[in-house]
Amino acid sequence: MVTRRQALAMSAAGLAGGLAGGLARRPAAAATLGGFWPAGRVPYGACARFDPLQKEYDYRSALKSYCQQLTPEGGLFWGYLRPTPTQYRFDAADAVLEFAQANGMTMRGHTLVWYGDMPDWTKDIDGAADAEREMTGHIERLMSRYRGKIKTWHVVNEAIDDPKVGVPGLRPNVWLQNLGDTYIDLAFRTAHRIDPSAELVLNDYDIECLDGTSPNKRQAFRKLIHDLLARGVPLHGVGLQGHIKGKYQIDRDGVFDFVSEIHGLGLSVHVTELDVIDYDLPGPIVVRDAIVAARAHDFLEPVFAAARPAVLATWGITDRYTWVPTWFTRPDGRPNRPLPLDENYQRKPLWNVIDYFCGK
Ligand code: XIL
Repeated sequence: MVTRRQALAMSAAGLAGGLAGGLARRPAAAATLGGFWPAGRVPYGACARFDPLQKEYDYRSALKSYCQQLTPEGGLFWGYLRPTPTQYRFDAADAVLEFAQANGMTMRGHTLVWYGDMPDWTKDIDGAADAEREMTGHIERLMSRYRGKIKTWHVVNEAIDDPKVGVPGLRPNVWLQNLGDTYIDLAFRTAHRIDPSAELVLNDYDIECLDGTSPNKRQAFRKLIHDLLARGVPLHGVGLQGHIKGKYQIDRDGVFDFVSEIHGLGLSVHVTELDVIDYDLPGPIVVRDAIVAARAHDFLEPVFAAARPAVLATWGITDRYTWVPTWFTRPDGRPNRPLPLDENYQRKPLWNVIDYFCGK
């Protein structure tokens, strides 16, 4: 039962019209597809977390039922993989790969170069030669291990800084510090040398919200893409993470123009980490879930109108396991609900939105 206050909140979120009705009228989602999906559907993917993948039947079962592609959530981060300069721990990524292969799914590689989750020892990387050796050695090791198994890699993740004033530059990291702007070229060229058949993607976030910062982020992203292509860097695709800030409306025109431009450059488009950050959305579940679904819809509609994405992936599949509360805890203490299945693996309105777009 939706109260008047809840109904008003829904209409404030742009839900009053077709979408709320459409979602409510929509029949229960199509039969789950798992590793199999009919030609013509956009594959649905999610990131997979190592711990529940090993321990929890329901978690495995949900991934099998819904996903055609998996991404290891943190198994390929430097912090996990490389506790010391000489050690590589492939157990988490291998477990996701094995599970994916056993269930007819593919796995994507996330990520080779990122400022986040770097082990402490990388702070000692000093000078261009040292940085080049570490970065290229890492890319070689991972891409040769997974050659032919991981066909799409997020080569550089979150290269662009958060916009503070105006159009941002590159985000500081150990590679930028030691190698300068062209660390990105080096990462892509190395990846291409190691596996010329791999699809190489530049992945970033914050291009979709009407919060005032997205146009600057898009401008920086656009410039980086054009610069890379002009320098002949083997960039094949662009990943839109889609960590949507739920409080804001979607900049639908901005998204459409941006994705059209990427598509026009001959690059593939990937929705890589969709979820809706809900810490500042209304508490009641029915309202919150509707807003979350509406935001995703409003983002995916211009994306799909501009280009058919190679994948539609969420960052997690169930509210039970999501990175969102680590950074965006709700002030009212209620659990976050950013993902398509709730904490008991029940489908939420967001699942219907995903199912709808994957079927387009
Ligand atoms: C997050 C993981 O989900 C967390 O488990 C980890 O602690 C930090 O990183 N953008 C990205 C992802 O590209 O790699 C991040 O994943 C979420 C934001």
